[in-house]
Amino acid sequence: MRLVICETIEEFGEKAAQAIAAQIRAKSNSVLGLPTGDTPIRVYNELVKLYNENYIDFQYVTTFNLDEYLGMDKENPSSYNYFMWNNLFRHINISNEKVHIPDGKASDPHKECSDYEDSINGLGGLDLMVLGIGLNGHIGFNEPGTNFDSRTRVVELAESTISANARNFNSSDEVPRQAITMGIATIMAAKKILLLATGEGKAQIVYDAFNKNISTEIPASVLQYHKDVHIILDKEAGRYFK
Ligand code: F6R
Repeated sequence: MRLVICETIEEFGEKAAQAIAAQIRAKSNSVLGLPTGDTPIRVYNELVKLYNENYIDFQYVTTFNLDEYLGMDKENPSSYNYFMWNNLFRHINISNEKVHIPDGKASDPHKECSDYEDSINGLGGLDLMVLGIGLNGHIGFNEPGTNFDSRTRVVELAESTISANARNFNSSDEVPRQAITMGIATIMAAKKILLLATGEGKAQIVYDAFNKNISTEIPASVLQYHKDVHIILDKEAGRYFK
């Protein structure tokens, strides 16, 4: 495990983007797993900058997003699909067919999940999985109690996740109760993992994930089993690490 604690939020964005850029520069046809949320916004802005400076090229890169709300139309501004195009994809030269985001409106969500797994495996798996962490320790939408052998599937969101995500909706009643998420085993199969967290609110959970016993109660604690994890935090999220 490699831990970097950044002095400023700007440094956090730059370091995290550099870590992703290093993967793309080392392997132009990298397969990336990507998160949505507040944490990666700054990182995606930096990646767009690096692309505009001709430092990275997304032509051969393939991406798989971690999750999408079930029943969510991709044109809806609260969808993760919309988020990704708005914050990253429309600003870079990635080809449409290399972008994968679970289809929340799939007529057969269970088939959508198994097809998603097949697509990842068909490309030889994820080279780099980028993750945020939920206040309850979730990774993707793998909420506390999730089995470590879980794969891409339909899940129920925890009440705490619904309240935390209500900020992107008019009210918490509008937050979908279900989502499609990559599973923990899907995430753990990635060759490398980059975990990102910022802000004081994440300080305790990110510390617990790497310093307490591995347990399904803190889904991110499973990352202690992974051989190649890089953690990048800002000073506030890193405050409990010595
Ligand atoms: C998002 C995802 C979630 C978030 C987590 C942190 O695709 O899978 O696990 O990474 O909820 O969200 P933020 O960054 O908004 O605090």
